[in-house]
Amino acid sequence: MAGNASLGAAKAAKNDEFYTQWNDIENEMQAYLEYDPDVFRDKVVLLPCDDPGASNFTKYFALNFEKFGLKKLISTSYAPASNPAITEQGQMFLDFELDEDKDEKFNKDDTWYRGRIYVLEHGIDLNNDGRLNKDDLQWDYLEGDGDFRSEEVTKLRNEADIVVTNPPFSLFREFLAWLIEGEVKFSVIGSKNSITYKEVFPLIRSNQLWLGNGFAKGNAYFRIPPELARDFATGVYDDETSTVHFRNIDWFTNIEHGRRHEPLVLMTMEDNLIYGSKRVRETAYPKYCNYDAIEVPETKGIPSDFDGAMGVPISFLDKYNPDQFEIVGASLFDAIPIKKVAKPGDQFQQGGLAFYIREEENKLRRLYFRLIIRHRRPESKDA
Ligand SMILES: C[S@@+](CC[C@H](N)C(=O)[O-])C[C@H]1O[C@@H](n2cnc3c(N)ncnc32)[C@H](O)[C@@H]1O
Repeated sequence: MAGNASLGAAKAAKNDEFYTQWNDIENEMQAYLEYDPDVFRDKVVLLPCDDPGASNFTKYFALNFEKFGLKKLISTSYAPASNPAITEQGQMFLDFELDEDKDEKFNKDDTWYRGRIYVLEHGIDLNNDGRLNKDDLQWDYLEGDGDFRSEEVTKLRNEADIVVTNPPFSLFREFLAWLIEGEVKFSVIGSKNSITYKEVFPLIRSNQLWLGNGFAKGNAYFRIPPELARDFATGVYDDETSTVHFRNIDWFTNIEHGRRHEPLVLMTMEDNLIYGSKRVRETAYPKYCNYDAIEVPETKGIPSDFDGAMGVPISFLDKYNPDQFEIVGASLFDAIPIKKVAKPGDQFQQGGLAFYIREEENKLRRLYFRLIIRHRRPESKDA
């Protein structure tokens, strides 16, 4: 398999230009529609941080406007002049697939310095063909550059019921805060690392935010402008499809979908210790030295009958069902500082807050980020 890109590298390249593929948008929205066929009915959907002339988000929602029963679709783009990934005046990454450049209001200066807005609205059939679709999108320049934080785009957020986009990765925290402040439903793409951010984790814990249905087998491929291909290592960028491969990207949402309500089928602790994976058998559920919980090194090894707190890896969230489990904390925020519990002579790796396991008499092993969970209804031991 080809390699995959790290967001660190993307940030270093000031590179937020990843364009989402049609199939990925369709699969994610389909999961919401399967759960609630009316999820978009009579709703105003905003697609900010887009490039509506060429983006699949705008085309996807415009094509499905009538099928979904949308009230209004609004997309906005960001001015090239404000975009650090664009280095010279006049440079554009994408074509004007909606023929904006043939429109009489099109001009080079506005296209460079201002964002654009595209609107498709119930009852406004521009070409009178009896159908509403991308041919009925009306576009204009925004006053400003289309920054999502601007008063102008924030006003559009306030008008919206649902916001869907792939926002700039480097501004993910700010973008999420902007969505929460607007009290909208949303579905946005971001790095799974953001789960560990102090601004993001409390939202997950309190069920205001969860992972979406996700990319097929966790592999996300984004189109990038070919001129940015050189920023990626060989094997990460695919010439033929002009896509970059990421493993650590997911959808973040507050819209319900079915996967989130599928219960995990689990074995008891006793059965896990006999029939479980080698890793689970060898680890054998030790207690942390600096938090009252047991270590569960993989999601499928969660014992069905344990009624206390359990530490699990972040990948648990791919299977998290809030009817079955409660998330009560995370090692990075809730662990007791190891220096407070270590005994004289103990050896341990230092760092930010993390859970530790006593491996030998004087040796503590530091673990990666752990979520702390509890069963809502642990299976009875006598069952
Ligand atoms: C990851 S790309 C995704 C583009 C598109 N939504 C898609 O998925 O096909 C993020 C987009 O956000 C735009 N952008 C960057 N900073 C922005 C800001 N402060 N406000 C609004 N948009 C921004 C970039 O120009 C870029 O096109």
